[in-house]
Amino acid sequence: MSLRVLIDENRLPEHIAIIMDGNGRWAQEQGQDRLFGHFHGVASVRDIVEGSAELGIKYLTLYAFSTENWDRPKEEVAGLMGLLVETIRKEVPILNKNNIRIHVIGELSMLPDHAHNALEEALDMTSANTGLNLILALSYSSRWELVNAVKKIATDVQEGKLAPETIGQDTLQQYLATSAFPDPELMIRTSGEYRISNFLLYQLAYAELYFTQTRWPDFRKENLYEAILDFQKRERRFGKTSQQVSS
Ligand code: IPE
Ligand code: IPE
Ligand code: MG
Repeated sequence: MSLRVLIDENRLPEHIAIIMDGNGRWAQEQGQDRLFGHFHGVASVRDIVEGSAELGIKYLTLYAFSTENWDRPKEEVAGLMGLLVETIRKEVPILNKNNIRIHVIGELSMLPDHAHNALEEALDMTSANTGLNLILALSYSSRWELVNAVKKIATDVQEGKLAPETIGQDTLQQYLATSAFPDPELMIRTSGEYRISNFLLYQLAYAELYFTQTRWPDFRKENLYEAILDFQKRERRFGKTSQQVSS
C-alpha cells in the first residue's frame, strides 16, 4: 500500500525544501565514481518533483549546489555542471506538460556560460506555468544571500529609497533571493547528516526538520510521503503553549 492515502491533503506543507545529500557515498558504496551517484540522483529529482506536483505542493526548493561546493575537485564540478545542463534541456518539455515553473536562487554569475544559458532558457520557457514552483538553489549559500541583502539595503538607504527606521522583518524578507516565496514549513535532508550546510538559514526559522538515512539516489515518492506524514504528526507551536495551539 502506498503511504499516500494516509496523507491529509488539507494539511500539506505549502513549501518543502530538500538538501539532496549522499550521492557520492551512494556511488562509492557500490565501488563507483562519485559522478555515478550524481547521475542517479537525477532520477530522484524527477520522482520527487512529480510526486510533489501530484500532491499539490505549491513550492519545492532543491539544494542542488552550494557556494562551498565550488571547492570540490574540478572534474566533479564540471561533471555536475554538465549534468545540470543536460537535465534541464531534457526536462523542460516535461515541466511544461506538468505546469511546473522553474526558479533559481544563487550566485548565477559563478556558473559556466553553458549552464547559465540553459537555466535562463528554462526560466523563460516555464515562466507562464502556474502549478508547482520548483526552486533550484544553485551556487547558493545562505550567508551569500544575507550579505547580498544587506548590501542592497545599504544601497537603497544611501540612495534615499529606504528609511532605516522603517526596516522590519518584512523588509529583510523582501531583499532575500526567496522574496517571492513563503518560508518552507518542512525541510528534509537525506543521507544521515544532521546539519543545515548554509541553506536558507533565515527562512527555516520555524521549519520542521526531517532527517533520513536514505541516500538521495534512493529517495523516492514513498520517502517523501513518509516525511510529510511525520510533519503532519507534529504540533507547530511558534512559541506558544500546546494548550494555546490546540484550543
Ligand atoms: C549531494 O551529494 C550532491 C551535491 C552536494 C552536489 P554529495 O555529493 O554531497 O554526496 P556525499 O555527501 O559526498 O555522499
Ligand atoms: C549540501 O551538501 C549542499 C547540497 C546538497 C547541494 P554537502 O554535502 O555539500 O554538505 P556538507 O559539506 O556535508 O555540509
Ligand atoms: Mg554531501
